[in-house]
Amino acid sequence: MPLVNLKIILEKAKKGKYAIGAFNIYNIEDITAVILAAEEVNAPVILQASGSALRHSTIEDIAGVITRRARQSIVPICLHLDHSTDYSTIIKAIKEGFSSVMFDGSLLSYEENMAKTKEIVKIAHTLDVTVEAEVGRVGRSDDEESNFEEGLSNPKEVKQFVSATNIDACAVAIGTIHGMQEQKTKIDFQLLKKIREIVDVPLVLHGSSGVIEEELTKLGTFGIQKVNVGARLKKVFTDTLRNQLDEDPMLFDHVKLLKFVIGAVKKEVIHKITVFGSAGKAIDILQ
Ligand code: G3H
Ligand code: ZN
Repeated sequence: MPLVNLKIILEKAKKGKYAIGAFNIYNIEDITAVILAAEEVNAPVILQASGSALRHSTIEDIAGVITRRARQSIVPICLHLDHSTDYSTIIKAIKEGFSSVMFDGSLLSYEENMAKTKEIVKIAHTLDVTVEAEVGRVGRSDDEESNFEEGLSNPKEVKQFVSATNIDACAVAIGTIHGMQEQKTKIDFQLLKKIREIVDVPLVLHGSSGVIEEELTKLGTFGIQKVNVGARLKKVFTDTLRNQLDEDPMLFDHVKLLKFVIGAVKKEVIHKITVFGSAGKAIDILQ
């Protein structure tokens, strides 16, 4: 089927109290693994490309491959631009067929973030493209200077931002940190509850790779509808490569090697989809 936007899938997820995985993809192997996983468990899925993915594989190639694979697929697939700070990349992504974009104004002042987001929403919505924005600032594990506490989202600001900009999904800073290789972060569920009580829009969790497993299972019922997964898939990809080469140092056929990788990433995506509660929910979207 054609690509779907965030609104279509996240509103259903909100009603059904589950979350949909948004997986960062960088290459054909990632794309293949994520789509095969979603198809195997009949889940709606979001494939998202960040700046580094666009530098590795071009925006045109990513859009071309995923648009075609979505058309051939039986599950709803959303193609989302992740963490874009740059107006021209957003416009290019929309032109190339992305069904959704994130404008990341988290390093700007609250007012500037709001003004720029508003402009992008106006353009994107005329083309049926959805927009995610971030209120507050989710930390990064490689940024020693950032103060995670300071970046936490303020519920009143989230409410005001959402109604002023008309965004379709809002990323909130509730204790997670981007890029963690181990699951040891705890979510501030009190803060999430406060935001959810006064805000209606689907909420997005960034930096899920570091979150302890049992908290990941609660996200959908606490009002998170989109869960971004990046570092975890990178780790599975590179660990699998390392292990296969250690096991068979003479292995020469890279296609054979990458088959192991696709299988391992697919397995991890199925695990995440199951934990988020969206396995079997493709039918939800089609009704
Ligand atoms: O936008 C991407 C995500 O927030 C990924 O975070 O790499 O910590 O899973 P993660
Ligand atoms: Zn993120």
